[in-house]
Amino acid sequence: MCGIIGIVGNASVTDRLIQGLKRLEYRGYDSAGVAVISDGNLLRERAEGKIAALEAKLGSNPIDGPVGIAHTRWATHGVPNETNAHPHFAGRVCIVHNGIIENFLDLRQSLNGRNFRTETDTEVVAHLVDEEMSNGASAKEAFQSTLAKLKGAYAFGMVIDGEDDKLFAARAGSPLAIGIGDGEMYLGSDALALAQLTSDLVYLEEGDWAILTSDGYEIFDRHNNAVERDVTVIVGGPAMADKGGYAHYMLKEIHEQPETVSRTLSNYIDEFRQTPSLPTDIDFAEIDRVILVACGTASFAGEVAKYWFEQVAGLAADVDIASEFRYRKPVLSENSLFIAVSQSGETADTLAALRYCKSHGVKTAALVNVMTSTMAREADIALPTHAGPEIGVASTKAFTSQLTALAALVIKAASDRKTIDSEAVSDHIKALMSVPGLIAQSLQDEPHIQEVAKTLTSAEHAFFLGRGQFVPIAFEGALKLKEISYIHAESYAAGELKHGPIALIEDGTPVVVVAPMDELFEKTLSNAQEVISRGAEIYMVTDKAGQQHAAGAARHILQIPECHNFVSPILTTIPLQLLAYYTAVHLGTDVDQPRNLAKSVTVE
Ligand code: G6P
Repeated sequence: MCGIIGIVGNASVTDRLIQGLKRLEYRGYDSAGVAVISDGNLLRERAEGKIAALEAKLGSNPIDGPVGIAHTRWATHGVPNETNAHPHFAGRVCIVHNGIIENFLDLRQSLNGRNFRTETDTEVVAHLVDEEMSNGASAKEAFQSTLAKLKGAYAFGMVIDGEDDKLFAARAGSPLAIGIGDGEMYLGSDALALAQLTSDLVYLEEGDWAILTSDGYEIFDRHNNAVERDVTVIVGGPAMADKGGYAHYMLKEIHEQPETVSRTLSNYIDEFRQTPSLPTDIDFAEIDRVILVACGTASFAGEVAKYWFEQVAGLAADVDIASEFRYRKPVLSENSLFIAVSQSGETADTLAALRYCKSHGVKTAALVNVMTSTMAREADIALPTHAGPEIGVASTKAFTSQLTALAALVIKAASDRKTIDSEAVSDHIKALMSVPGLIAQSLQDEPHIQEVAKTLTSAEHAFFLGRGQFVPIAFEGALKLKEISYIHAESYAAGELKHGPIALIEDGTPVVVVAPMDELFEKTLSNAQEVISRGAEIYMVTDKAGQQHAAGAARHILQIPECHNFVSPILTTIPLQLLAYYTAVHLGTDVDQPRNLAKSVTVE
């Protein structure tokens, strides 16, 4: 899950490559590099760390030309230093890569006598192409036969000394798009990378490879047949990647939620008829089990939906973490509906789970934020979340849009399966329609949460508790806190704490309890009392009724507006996002690009 970009044209490329790379930085930021062909010379500059470090090096050692490739890295094979930074050279070949070449060690051994300079899996690809050319193959033949030897996942951009007017590209398992310009062609990991260059994209399909020149491109499929692929026109353009005056993308994205949830709703609810109206109809009366599979934050959206599907629609629902699902040989039935939940639509494990289900005859849906993604294209049913591009590595608005879309699916399932009557359907829809306004109301508590967050900055550990549908919200709250503030945060079903983890509670340990008033509230409150009596300080996310009942038990109250119990998981998410955000800001961490993380994980 690195980011790659390339330009082949007639004008200078370095600045534009760097600008594009910055929009890809969310994919990884361990190191960055650029290579250009200038007057027949292949020039390269690389730097450890973020793109700013590369820019600084280019400032004192500028390189430029009309053809180039660039890369921002999230390290897999080889430590994140300058030596292992892409682009990688071998002889006449220079390459950038996103993915993992699984058989790189075998391939390295087969290339006896070649001098490998890095620990990466990628370098071997450059050597293979160069070796083929040294043995007399043309550049095209060398690229083609190299691809046939590779196992694993890749998106490549490659330039070759002596083939100065060409950019070579290939895709298997990692996304890659060609951008069409006027007198130049582009290559990018996603639409965002190319947003300032073009809105006309051609997404390469699995196994495709391509040769780009300044005035056109040729695409070949995995059997090396020339193929045509559709041109997709991307709306949104350069404004897609703008902070809009906020200090961080994450804060901007938190504040966008009234609007993004509204947009999701308008695509899933017929407000006039007060009925669910899914982008693609699904008849849940024919389905006896829903299988939700996802990674990270998206998996917590799936966990909330499990409660909803079972409780509101009486429909059995399983949730699995994608990296586990695909290897445990799950028992599947034909009447199941598989739903991949994924912001990017590219996460390798979730995609593999989708393919697994598809190959076993299970109907598949992909709930994704990127409709041009592989999951959207491969699933039987593509369900867009409409949250708009999410740049902050810690997911916020994509999560609430996932929850909103899943809630609409649940209402549709309940209606199809007649587990609730039309009045209750309408009640649930009204509750859902009130969410954007209630999120806006929640956001007004921001100054208070900013203050509360100061009290967390000295914590080494924090616990997050919830019951029922708030268990996954507690998990999401803890994940947000740990990923951007680096405070160790653990989450538990509130009833589970006494079976071990309570041993870790000491004087002053922060415990965030997610508990709006519901039938489980008193039990959660008892669990809060158990930790209070052992010295814990309670941060309670609750509503007015909950606050009154908690009467003094909590040191800090993060209050959500009164709302229907069905939608309170969405509302309780908002203060937890702000709490994590401001804790991180107070600690001075890199909120949008936290250490070691990447937004789009296209490796296993
Ligand atoms: C990464 C990101 C998380 C995200 C997860 C799943 O780990 O850092 O924020 O939740 O991938 O990504 P997806 O695009 O499939 O939702």
